[in-house]
Amino acid sequence: QSHQHKDLFPVMEKVSQFYQQQLRVNPQAKRAIQYLKDRGLSGEIAKQYAIGYAPEQWHALIKLADQPHQQKLEKDLVETGMLIEKENGQTYDRFRDRIMFPIRNRRGQVIGFGGRIIDKGEPKYLNSPETPLFHKSKELYGLYEMRHQLRSIDQIIIVEGYMDVVALAQFGIFNAVATLGTATTSDHLQTLFRLCPKIIFCFDGDRAGKAAALRALNHALPLIKDTREIRLMFLPDGEDPDSLVRKIGAAEFIQRSDQAKTLFDYLIEYLQSQVDMNTFEGPAQLVHLAKPYLQSIHDQVLKVRFEASLAKLSGLDPAQLKQILQSEVTATP
Ligand code: GTP
Ligand code: MN
Ligand code: MN
Ligand code: MN
Ligand code: MN
Repeated sequence: QSHQHKDLFPVMEKVSQFYQQQLRVNPQAKRAIQYLKDRGLSGEIAKQYAIGYAPEQWHALIKLADQPHQQKLEKDLVETGMLIEKENGQTYDRFRDRIMFPIRNRRGQVIGFGGRIIDKGEPKYLNSPETPLFHKSKELYGLYEMRHQLRSIDQIIIVEGYMDVVALAQFGIFNAVATLGTATTSDHLQTLFRLCPKIIFCFDGDRAGKAAALRALNHALPLIKDTREIRLMFLPDGEDPDSLVRKIGAAEFIQRSDQAKTLFDYLIEYLQSQVDMNTFEGPAQLVHLAKPYLQSIHDQVLKVRFEASLAKLSGLDPAQLKQILQSEVTATP
């Protein structure tokens, strides 16, 4: 192997320690601390999630090594995405004047960061790029902290953002993880199902959240089994888990998550909403629309049950339905 990933872990740990120290001692970090306080976070939670501050400097990280070791450090920092290398070979800090959320792997090693701008500005979040250590499609923010905090995990809530995970933790809800600005992948779900059989997707109550639900559905269907449970929780317009838990508190938040729709109830509701069931054609269109979803279900029991529901909804007898679904003819307008 030309490079050893392992060499990069101590570098990331060093950076994370530096950012945490900066949050405590850098006078510029006062705004960051105030911002975190304004968002209701305690020092204890900030510490638990190792939240830090990246100073407003172009060349802060390179100084983490003495002069003779700076060349090696620079190379490692570029490889981990912490420095950006210009065409002329010069480098500068990727994260500046941001609140830093370290992303840890399941063993607790820092593999990347999410950096939030303080207050307003663009981009709101800056994430580490894909590196030898960090693969967005595989990692989940908060997974390590959740396992560290909880002895047994009976369900896991998937949320969209860093602040959602941290805010829920602030309210004593430690079983939330976030995808890192990407859709939930099959890898994510497989990782979570190894920890517990019950997963609740919690989507922001905005357009993006609704689109994310459909993508989640597509990834989840092939993985669902009758021993597993997936639910989808939709938040009110304009709310995310962070804002909602502040408004209604932990007990009510948990109650709502327990009442979230199951994957199949949501799927059927979604399909019905896409056609006009009061027309002659509606129920037929429903069948065709459902076909690709049905095909992606691997669990036989659930597949048969879903077929039975479709038969009922479409008014076809189950044998007819089976025949239609097996034929390659698809309804194109
Ligand atoms: P707060 O405003 O701090 O509460 O953040 P949020 O988590 O509610 O943000 P939002 O719902 O807009 O986005 C959810 C997640 O998408 C964030 O946690 C980030 O991971 C990601 N994200 C949001 N904005 C950006 C952005 O500007 N750039 C990138 N790369 N990712 C973003
Ligand atoms: Mn790798
Ligand atoms: Mn959103
Ligand atoms: Mn949000
Ligand atoms: Mn938010």
